[in-house]
Formats: sequence, structure tokens, C-alpha cells
Amino acid sequence: MRTPLETARLRLEPFDETHFAGLLALNSDPVVMQYLGDGSIATAMEVQATIDSARQRWDQFGFSWWSIIRKDNGEIIGAGCVQHIENEPRNPVEVGWRLKRDHWGHGYATEAAHAMIAFAFDVLGLASIHATTHPSNERSIKVVKRLGMRCLGLQPYYGTMAATYVLKRP
Ligand SMILES: CC(C)(COP(=O)(O)OP(=O)(O)OC[C@H]1O[C@@H](n2cnc3c(N)ncnc32)[C@H](O)[C@@H]1OP(=O)(O)O)[C@@H](O)C(=O)NCCC(=O)NCCS
Repeated sequence: MRTPLETARLRLEPFDETHFAGLLALNSDPVVMQYLGDGSIATAMEVQATIDSARQRWDQFGFSWWSIIRKDNGEIIGAGCVQHIENEPRNPVEVGWRLKRDHWGHGYATEAAHAMIAFAFDVLGLASIHATTHPSNERSIKVVKRLGMRCLGLQPYYGTMAATYVLKRP
């Protein structure tokens, strides 16, 4: 099942073919991609493969990636996820976020994260959720702190020592 979410300002829609152009724009910005993977921007083929694999994981696990869409104008302004860390089912489940650069500084990532975390706890029934980020990614670390996540230190994920956080279900 592919579950859309809604917040005051945002719609979160499970990745879909129709999101291709918006996700390509998001993942083509080197500043957005700086701390993600090897830091390189995504090609059109990679964005298509990401959509395909997210759709497959929605069907397999009942959670994966959403496009983050402004309700007032329908623009795709980012993407967020609930996924196994490194997409490895033996790993804990994490919440993640990225926004187009012109939408930083408005609270959209934190707002979307609250909805994704509520989904993880209330719909998936998870007892806790993790977050991982590059230790130099200050904006992302501010998001995890705003969410009240507890730091677990540096852990070996995504080919680096990732700053790793956890939030337990209240
Ligand atoms: C990480 C990322 C999503 C954070 O974006 P962000 O805009 O800083 O975070 P939020 O959307 O939660 O916005 C919070 C900011 O908006 C401000 N804000 C403005 N209006 C607000 C409102 N109505 N409600 C809440 N916050 C608001 C907050 O004060 C805060 O500002 P501050 O950072 O100066 O303290 C963004 O930097 C990004 O996409 N980075 C590239 C991708 C990436 O690295 N992702 C993380 C991978 S682990």
C-alpha cells in the first residue's frame, strides 16, 4: 500500500512517474546533493531508477519515498523517506529529507518529518526511528535536534561515519 500524508502546508505523495521532472530538478542541484552519497548530482536515468525502486519498495515494505509538494501551488519542493538505512532490511528504519534550495528556511523539512515520523509510529507501528546524516551537514542536524532525536554518535553507514540519531515512540 502506498500511503500519502498531509500537513498544514504540504502534501506528501509516494513517488510516482508524474514526479520525474520535479525530482530531477531537486537532485540536479549540487548544493542539495553535497552531503548525499558521493555528492554528485543525479542523472535523468538515476532519477528514473530511484522512482522505480521506491515504487517497488512501497509495494514490498509499505514505506519508502514521498515527494514533498506545496499544497498552495502544487510544486514539488523536496522529497522525504522512511526506509531501512542503506536500504538494507536488517538495518534500522530511518527518516530522511531533502528540499530544493529555494525552499530552505521555511520549516518545510521539519513539518514533513513530523508527518513521516507519525506514519512510522502510528501506521507502521515502529518502536523507534533513526536518522543518519553527514556530521558536517549542519542544517540536517538542526532538523534532527528540532525533532528531539537523541544522538547515538558516529556509526558506519553509507560508506562513512554517519552522525546517527534515534527517536523512540512516545
Ligand atoms: C537538510 C534540509 C532539508 C534542511 O532544510 P531547512 O530548510 O534548513 O530545514 P526546515 O525546512 O526544517 O526549516 C527550518 C528553518 O526554517 C525556519 N522557519 C521559517 N519559517 C518557519 C515556519 N513557519 N515553521 C518552522 N520553521 C520555520 C526555522 O527557524 C529554521 O531556520 P534556521 O535553520 O535558521 O534555524 C536542507 O538543508 C536540504 O535539503 N539539504 C540538502 C539535502 C540534505 O542534505 N538532506 C539531509 C540528508 S541527511
